[in-house]
Amino acid sequence: MSTNISPYNRENSSKKGEVKEMFDNIAGAYDTLNHTLTFGMDIWWRRRAISMLRPYEPKVLVDMATGTGDFALAARRINPEKVIGIDLSPGMLEIGRKKMKEKGADQLIDMVLGDSEAIQMDDNTVDAMTVGFGVRNFENLKLGLSEMRRVLKPGKPAVILEPSFPTTFPLKQLFQFYFRFITPLVGRFVSGDDAAYTYLPESVKAFPHGEEFLEICREVGYKKVKYVPLTGGICALYLLEK
Ligand SMILES: C[S@@+](CC[C@H](N)C(=O)[O-])C[C@H]1O[C@@H](n2cnc3c(N)ncnc32)[C@H](O)[C@@H]1O
Repeated sequence: MSTNISPYNRENSSKKGEVKEMFDNIAGAYDTLNHTLTFGMDIWWRRRAISMLRPYEPKVLVDMATGTGDFALAARRINPEKVIGIDLSPGMLEIGRKKMKEKGADQLIDMVLGDSEAIQMDDNTVDAMTVGFGVRNFENLKLGLSEMRRVLKPGKPAVILEPSFPTTFPLKQLFQFYFRFITPLVGRFVSGDDAAYTYLPESVKAFPHGEEFLEICREVGYKKVKYVPLTGGICALYLLEK
């Protein structure tokens, strides 16, 4: 299963190739744009997600689609012994590696080039998994989710964050306007990539939300699944257990 929306909509290229190209293009602007466009709420959302992993006391944690590594860094709050950040985009990883060094986290956190849909790890080896604003970009969502499940140890958790849509007035209307008109404008101006921040609202709109997403996770084989709307539903937090 994939949401057919890809960043540049070229005829002869894969979604995966275009996603990699887009994140390589915007890597230098990504952190600034992320914090600006969410008014810093992305930081709080990641912290909230990490707090849900605390009861599991994970030692080895994998942050899928780690990008510049903010989720991996947030995981330090629960004292894992090793964090592995995996991403398709060398450009995002390069920014992330610099950040790890600056923050003295490069011994704890490895930033590795890889594909969530073909994880280079053995079955049942990971204590917890995080994915921040990543699963929507997978070319094959079910394959990515089942690869994550494969490497998780039985009973262990994954937390997933995704942008979502509020459903109540007036937040719904305000958010729709902001996301449809302001986000692409600011994104284009700061990142210089015309398509990237048009892809963002389009791909969020096409992506399964709430119960629909949980149903896909159940189909893939996760035993416990839970949906927690954050900030009035602007962000969705999913907790899955293998
Ligand atoms: C919006 S960024 C999120 C970065 C980070 N997780 C965060 O919380 O800010 C999405 C990331 O997903 C990565 N990505 C998309 N598909 C992927 C795949 N199949 N395997 C690994 N990374 C992928 C992109 O390269 C990009 O860095």
